[in-house]
Amino acid sequence: MSRATPYQPLLLRLLHGINGLIAILAIITSYWVYDTYDGRFGQLSLPQIPGIIGIHGTFGKTLLLGVMPAFALYSFLLGSKRLVQPDSFQKLRQLGKPIGWYSLHRIVNTVMLLAVTFSLVTGSMVKEEWLPNGELNHIWYYLHLTGWVILVGCLAMHLLISAKVGGLPLWVSMFKLNYRPEDSPKKWIQTVRSFVQREDR
Ligand code: HEM
Ligand code: HEM
Repeated sequence: MSRATPYQPLLLRLLHGINGLIAILAIITSYWVYDTYDGRFGQLSLPQIPGIIGIHGTFGKTLLLGVMPAFALYSFLLGSKRLVQPDSFQKLRQLGKPIGWYSLHRIVNTVMLLAVTFSLVTGSMVKEEWLPNGELNHIWYYLHLTGWVILVGCLAMHLLISAKVGGLPLWVSMFKLNYRPEDSPKKWIQTVRSFVQREDR
Protein backbone atom coordinates (compact mmCIF):
# COMPACT_ATOMS: atom_id res chain seq x y z
CA MET A 1 0.00 0.00 0.00
CA SER A 2 1.30 3.45 -0.79
CA ARG A 3 2.39 5.57 2.14
CA ALA A 4 -0.09 8.23 1.07
CA THR A 5 -3.10 6.02 1.91
CA PRO A 6 -3.78 5.76 5.64
CA TYR A 7 -4.97 2.42 7.02
CA GLN A 8 -8.26 2.13 8.92
CA PRO A 9 -9.19 -0.80 11.15
CA LEU A 10 -11.61 -3.11 9.32
CA LEU A 11 -14.20 -2.98 12.11
CA LEU A 12 -14.22 0.83 11.94
CA ARG A 13 -14.69 0.75 8.18
CA LEU A 14 -17.56 -1.74 8.48
CA LEU A 15 -19.44 0.02 11.27
CA HIS A 16 -18.76 3.55 10.00
CA GLY A 17 -19.78 2.53 6.46
CA ILE A 18 -23.06 0.85 7.42
CA ASN A 19 -23.89 3.63 9.85
CA GLY A 20 -23.09 6.37 7.32
CA LEU A 21 -25.08 4.65 4.56
CA ILE A 22 -28.22 4.16 6.66
CA ALA A 23 -27.92 7.66 8.16
CA ILE A 24 -27.77 9.16 4.67
CA LEU A 25 -30.77 7.07 3.57
CA ALA A 26 -32.65 8.31 6.68
CA ILE A 27 -31.72 11.89 5.81
CA ILE A 28 -32.92 11.53 2.19
CA THR A 29 -36.18 9.72 3.03
CA SER A 30 -36.87 12.17 5.86
CA TYR A 31 -36.58 15.07 3.45
CA TRP A 32 -39.02 13.22 1.19
CA VAL A 33 -41.46 12.93 4.12
CA TYR A 34 -41.13 16.65 4.84
CA ASP A 35 -41.56 17.53 1.16
CA THR A 36 -44.68 15.36 0.85
CA TYR A 37 -46.53 16.38 4.03
CA ASP A 38 -45.07 19.71 5.14
CA GLY A 39 -43.03 22.02 2.89
CA ARG A 40 -43.52 25.17 5.01
CA PHE A 41 -39.80 26.05 4.87
CA GLY A 42 -39.37 25.37 1.15
CA GLN A 43 -40.45 22.54 -1.12
CA LEU A 44 -39.12 20.66 -4.14
CA SER A 45 -42.49 18.93 -4.86
CA LEU A 46 -40.86 15.52 -5.23
CA PRO A 47 -43.03 12.70 -6.65
CA GLN A 48 -45.13 10.97 -3.99
CA ILE A 49 -43.91 7.59 -2.78
CA PRO A 50 -46.55 5.47 -1.03
CA GLY A 51 -45.47 4.48 2.46
CA ILE A 52 -42.57 6.96 2.56
CA ILE A 53 -43.13 7.56 6.31
CA GLY A 54 -42.86 3.82 6.97
CA ILE A 55 -39.70 3.59 4.86
CA HIS A 56 -38.13 6.49 6.76
CA GLY A 57 -39.20 4.97 10.10
CA THR A 58 -37.58 1.68 9.12
CA PHE A 59 -34.20 3.30 8.38
CA GLY A 60 -34.50 5.33 11.58
CA LYS A 61 -35.34 2.27 13.67
CA THR A 62 -32.48 0.25 12.14
CA LEU A 63 -30.06 2.97 13.18
CA LEU A 64 -31.61 3.39 16.62
CA LEU A 65 -31.79 -0.26 17.58
CA GLY A 66 -28.79 -1.76 15.86
CA VAL A 67 -26.20 0.11 13.91
CA MET A 68 -25.77 3.29 15.94
CA PRO A 69 -25.31 1.61 19.37
CA ALA A 70 -22.65 -0.69 17.86
CA PHE A 71 -20.82 2.16 16.13
CA ALA A 72 -21.03 4.42 19.20
CA LEU A 73 -19.64 1.61 21.40
CA TYR A 74 -16.80 1.08 18.93
CA SER A 75 -16.03 4.80 18.86
CA PHE A 76 -16.07 5.21 22.65
CA LEU A 77 -14.09 2.06 23.43
CA LEU A 78 -11.74 1.31 20.53
CA GLY A 79 -11.86 4.54 18.52
CA SER A 80 -11.68 7.05 21.37
CA LYS A 81 -8.40 8.51 20.05
CA ARG A 82 -10.39 9.95 17.16
CA LEU A 83 -12.97 11.58 19.44
CA VAL A 84 -12.62 14.75 21.50
CA GLN A 85 -9.59 14.74 23.88
CA PRO A 86 -9.19 16.66 27.16
CA ASP A 87 -6.90 19.18 25.43
CA SER A 88 -8.80 19.40 22.11
CA PHE A 89 -10.35 22.81 22.78
CA GLN A 90 -7.03 24.27 23.93
CA LYS A 91 -5.31 22.94 20.78
CA LEU A 92 -8.03 24.53 18.64
CA ARG A 93 -6.19 27.83 19.13
CA GLN A 94 -3.47 26.45 16.86
CA LEU A 95 -5.82 26.32 13.87
CA GLY A 96 -3.63 26.73 10.83
CA LYS A 97 -1.24 24.05 12.12
CA PRO A 98 -2.10 20.36 11.60
CA ILE A 99 -2.70 19.77 15.32
CA GLY A 100 -5.37 22.48 15.35
CA TRP A 101 -7.22 20.87 12.44
CA TYR A 102 -6.90 17.39 13.97
CA SER A 103 -8.42 18.71 17.17
CA LEU A 104 -11.33 20.22 15.23
CA HIS A 105 -11.73 16.92 13.33
CA ARG A 106 -11.97 14.98 16.61
CA ILE A 107 -14.46 17.45 18.05
CA VAL A 108 -16.62 17.19 14.91
CA ASN A 109 -16.43 13.36 14.96
CA THR A 110 -17.85 13.49 18.48
CA VAL A 111 -20.52 16.02 17.51
CA MET A 112 -21.58 13.64 14.68
CA LEU A 113 -22.40 10.95 17.24
CA LEU A 114 -24.39 13.48 19.29
CA ALA A 115 -26.23 14.86 16.21
CA VAL A 116 -27.34 11.39 15.08
CA THR A 117 -28.42 10.55 18.64
CA PHE A 118 -30.51 13.75 18.83
CA SER A 119 -32.33 12.82 15.60
CA LEU A 120 -32.93 9.28 16.83
CA VAL A 121 -34.29 10.36 20.20
CA THR A 122 -36.61 13.07 18.80
CA GLY A 123 -37.73 10.73 15.97
CA SER A 124 -38.84 8.15 18.52
CA MET A 125 -41.26 10.72 19.94
CA VAL A 126 -42.87 11.58 16.57
CA LYS A 127 -46.11 9.68 15.88
CA GLU A 128 -46.65 8.12 12.47
CA GLU A 129 -50.18 9.62 12.20
CA TRP A 130 -49.29 13.27 12.85
CA LEU A 131 -48.22 14.36 9.35
CA PRO A 132 -50.94 12.50 7.37
CA ASN A 133 -53.49 14.11 9.77
CA GLY A 134 -52.06 17.56 9.07
CA GLU A 135 -50.77 17.92 12.66
CA LEU A 136 -47.60 19.87 11.94
CA ASN A 137 -47.17 21.84 15.15
CA HIS A 138 -46.09 19.22 17.67
CA ILE A 139 -42.99 20.22 19.60
CA TRP A 140 -41.32 16.83 19.01
CA TYR A 141 -41.84 17.24 15.27
CA TYR A 142 -40.16 20.65 15.37
CA LEU A 143 -37.27 19.24 17.40
CA HIS A 144 -36.97 16.38 14.92
CA LEU A 145 -36.85 18.86 12.00
CA THR A 146 -34.20 20.87 13.86
CA GLY A 147 -32.24 17.63 14.28
CA TRP A 148 -32.19 17.22 10.50
CA VAL A 149 -30.73 20.71 9.99
CA ILE A 150 -28.10 20.10 12.69
CA LEU A 151 -27.18 16.68 11.29
CA VAL A 152 -26.85 17.87 7.69
CA GLY A 153 -24.75 20.87 8.84
CA CYS A 154 -22.50 18.62 10.94
CA LEU A 155 -22.15 16.07 8.13
CA ALA A 156 -21.01 18.82 5.77
CA MET A 157 -18.41 19.93 8.34
CA HIS A 158 -17.34 16.31 8.93
CA LEU A 159 -16.73 15.83 5.21
CA LEU A 160 -14.93 19.15 4.77
CA ILE A 161 -12.67 18.79 7.79
CA SER A 162 -11.78 15.16 7.15
CA ALA A 163 -10.86 16.24 3.60
CA LYS A 164 -8.80 19.09 5.08
CA VAL A 165 -6.82 16.85 7.47
CA GLY A 166 -6.30 13.89 5.17
CA GLY A 167 -7.43 14.82 1.67
CA LEU A 168 -8.90 12.27 -0.72
CA PRO A 169 -6.65 9.43 0.54
CA LEU A 170 -8.27 9.66 4.01
CA TRP A 171 -11.78 9.50 2.51
CA VAL A 172 -10.78 6.56 0.32
CA SER A 173 -9.23 4.78 3.31
CA MET A 174 -12.67 4.67 5.01
CA PHE A 175 -14.17 2.68 2.12
CA LYS A 176 -11.37 0.26 1.14
CA LEU A 177 -12.25 -3.41 1.40
CA ASN A 178 -8.79 -4.93 1.93
CA TYR A 179 -7.38 -5.66 5.40
CA ARG A 180 -4.10 -6.57 7.01
CA PRO A 181 -3.70 -10.10 8.39
CA GLU A 182 -3.45 -8.81 11.97
CA ASP A 183 -6.78 -7.03 11.44
CA SER A 184 -8.61 -10.16 10.25
CA PRO A 185 -12.14 -10.83 11.66
CA LYS A 186 -10.71 -14.09 13.08
CA LYS A 187 -8.66 -11.99 15.50
CA TRP A 188 -11.62 -9.92 16.74
CA ILE A 189 -12.74 -12.42 19.41
CA GLN A 190 -9.19 -12.43 20.74
CA THR A 191 -9.12 -8.62 20.82
CA VAL A 192 -12.44 -8.45 22.70
CA ARG A 193 -11.17 -11.06 25.19
CA SER A 194 -7.96 -9.20 25.91
CA PHE A 195 -9.91 -5.94 26.17
CA VAL A 196 -12.30 -7.43 28.77
CA GLN A 197 -9.38 -8.98 30.69
CA ARG A 198 -7.60 -5.61 30.75
CA GLU A 199 -10.77 -3.97 32.13
CA ASP A 200 -11.12 -6.72 34.81
CA ARG A 201 -7.74 -6.05 36.28
C1 HEM B 1 -36.85 16.49 7.45
C2 HEM B 1 -36.52 15.79 8.50
C3 HEM B 1 -37.34 14.66 9.09
C4 HEM B 1 -38.68 14.42 9.01
C5 HEM B 1 -39.77 15.24 8.34
C6 HEM B 1 -38.92 13.18 9.72
C7 HEM B 1 -40.16 12.59 9.89
C8 HEM B 1 -40.41 11.52 10.71
C9 HEM B 1 -41.73 10.99 11.00
C10 HEM B 1 -43.04 11.49 10.41
C11 HEM B 1 -41.57 9.95 11.85
C12 HEM B 1 -42.67 9.07 12.46
C13 HEM B 1 -42.75 7.79 11.70
C14 HEM B 1 -42.63 6.54 12.52
O1 HEM B 1 -42.66 6.59 13.76
O2 HEM B 1 -42.47 5.47 11.90
C15 HEM B 1 -40.15 9.82 12.11
C16 HEM B 1 -39.60 8.86 12.92
C17 HEM B 1 -38.24 8.66 13.07
N1 HEM B 1 -37.22 9.34 12.45
FE1 HEM B 1 -37.44 10.99 11.31
N2 HEM B 1 -37.70 12.66 10.17
C18 HEM B 1 -36.70 13.54 9.82
C19 HEM B 1 -35.33 13.35 10.03
C20 HEM B 1 -34.73 12.23 10.60
C21 HEM B 1 -33.32 11.94 10.66
C22 HEM B 1 -32.22 12.80 10.05
C23 HEM B 1 -33.17 10.75 11.35
C24 HEM B 1 -31.94 9.96 11.72
C25 HEM B 1 -30.78 10.03 11.22
C26 HEM B 1 -34.49 10.31 11.73
C27 HEM B 1 -34.77 9.18 12.47
C28 HEM B 1 -36.03 8.79 12.88
C29 HEM B 1 -36.31 7.73 13.82
C30 HEM B 1 -35.29 6.87 14.57
C31 HEM B 1 -37.69 7.63 13.94
C32 HEM B 1 -38.48 6.66 14.83
C33 HEM B 1 -38.84 5.43 14.07
C34 HEM B 1 -39.74 4.52 14.90
O3 HEM B 1 -39.53 4.41 16.12
O4 HEM B 1 -40.64 3.92 14.30
N3 HEM B 1 -35.41 11.21 11.23
N4 HEM B 1 -39.46 10.78 11.40
C1 HEM C 1 -23.93 10.37 9.28
C2 HEM C 1 -22.89 9.69 8.95
C3 HEM C 1 -21.56 9.69 9.66
C4 HEM C 1 -21.26 9.61 11.01
C5 HEM C 1 -22.24 9.51 12.18
C6 HEM C 1 -19.82 9.64 11.12
C7 HEM C 1 -19.11 9.59 12.31
C8 HEM C 1 -17.75 9.44 12.44
C9 HEM C 1 -17.03 9.21 13.67
C10 HEM C 1 -17.68 9.08 15.05
C11 HEM C 1 -15.71 9.08 13.37
C12 HEM C 1 -14.58 8.75 14.35
C13 HEM C 1 -14.52 7.22 14.50
C14 HEM C 1 -13.66 6.72 15.64
O1 HEM C 1 -13.92 7.04 16.81
O2 HEM C 1 -12.69 5.95 15.38
C15 HEM C 1 -15.57 9.28 11.94
C16 HEM C 1 -14.39 9.29 11.24
C17 HEM C 1 -14.28 9.57 9.88
N1 HEM C 1 -15.32 9.70 8.97
FE1 HEM C 1 -17.28 9.74 9.41
N2 HEM C 1 -19.26 9.72 9.86
C18 HEM C 1 -20.30 9.75 8.94
C19 HEM C 1 -20.22 9.82 7.57
C20 HEM C 1 -19.03 9.92 6.87
C21 HEM C 1 -18.92 9.99 5.43
C22 HEM C 1 -20.11 9.97 4.44
C23 HEM C 1 -17.60 10.08 5.12
C24 HEM C 1 -17.11 10.19 3.71
C25 HEM C 1 -15.96 10.19 3.31
C26 HEM C 1 -16.85 10.05 6.39
C27 HEM C 1 -15.48 10.11 6.54
C28 HEM C 1 -14.79 9.94 7.72
C29 HEM C 1 -13.34 9.99 7.83
C30 HEM C 1 -12.36 10.24 6.67
C31 HEM C 1 -13.02 9.77 9.18
C32 HEM C 1 -11.66 9.86 9.84
C33 HEM C 1 -10.81 8.71 10.00
C34 HEM C 1 -9.50 9.18 10.66
O3 HEM C 1 -9.44 10.23 11.33
O4 HEM C 1 -8.51 8.46 10.48
N3 HEM C 1 -17.76 9.95 7.42
N4 HEM C 1 -16.84 9.49 11.39
